[in-house]
Amino acid sequence: MKKENVREFYDVVWTEYVPEFEASKQHLELFFDEDEIKGQNILDCGCGTGIFTNIMGTMGAGKVTGLDISPGSLSTGRSLKEKFHLDNVDFQEGDMLQLPFGDGAFDIVWAWGSAHHTENPMQAMSEIDRVLRKGGKLLLALYKRTRLTWVHEVIRKTLIKTPKSWWVPLSKIMAFLLWPLVKFREIFRKKARTGEKLEELILDWYFVPIRFYYTPAEIKTFLEGKGYEIKKFHPGSGRFESASNFIYKAYKKSE
Ligand SMILES: C[S@@+](CC[C@H](N)C(=O)[O-])C[C@H]1O[C@@H](n2cnc3c(N)ncnc32)[C@H](O)[C@@H]1O
Repeated sequence: MKKENVREFYDVVWTEYVPEFEASKQHLELFFDEDEIKGQNILDCGCGTGIFTNIMGTMGAGKVTGLDISPGSLSTGRSLKEKFHLDNVDFQEGDMLQLPFGDGAFDIVWAWGSAHHTENPMQAMSEIDRVLRKGGKLLLALYKRTRLTWVHEVIRKTLIKTPKSWWVPLSKIMAFLLWPLVKFREIFRKKARTGEKLEELILDWYFVPIRFYYTPAEIKTFLEGKGYEIKKFHPGSGRFESASNFIYKAYKKSE
């Protein structure tokens, strides 16, 4: 599978679904408060609908750039920008594997759930590191590898062979069937990130062309090797451990 497949896929997902603003803002505030955002030059790397790009714009960022390979996603982001009348937000088409920015260009890079959809996530993370200035802040969310990862991968690789026109209807049917299990599961574990429809999560989870998984330990080693200090760790954002992102907020050391 190639990045062109990923681009086409997200052209559909992020024009069909937009996460809720307030719920997404509450989620972002788990990691950054308004004082940290104010006046900063921020990159939302793999911004999708640009929901977080726009939220950071409303929180007083100096400038937020939402970058994505999917033009459909970017047009959703631009519509949100117009809705909120933001002049500190910009959207740009680009590839995370070759970021079109200079070294140390940003104070903050927010990369929620994007590097693992590239052909080479480690290269994407090295690019993120390159464009983040020394002393800058990184937010990185990646899919977690668990004992059940292979089961999810068998399902994904089977579903992805179905005709593309079936994908949205299939996600809706699966959401309908899985709803009782999801509701039951919520008794034991709340989602850290809310404001997304179940059918949207299923579409994004089981039909995406490229997906990699990591353990938190692997990424901690990677970040520390690049000179980062881990400031916050969230072990799993979703209702199910095997279908979650883990999240690191880390500071790039000045020396
Ligand atoms: C799961 S979505 C996350 C979107 C957004 N960060 C959010 O949390 O709502 C992954 C995004 O990464 C983008 N993406 C995947 N590969 C990319 C690449 N090589 N360069 C730039 N963006 C990419 C996709 O187009 C998609 O919008």
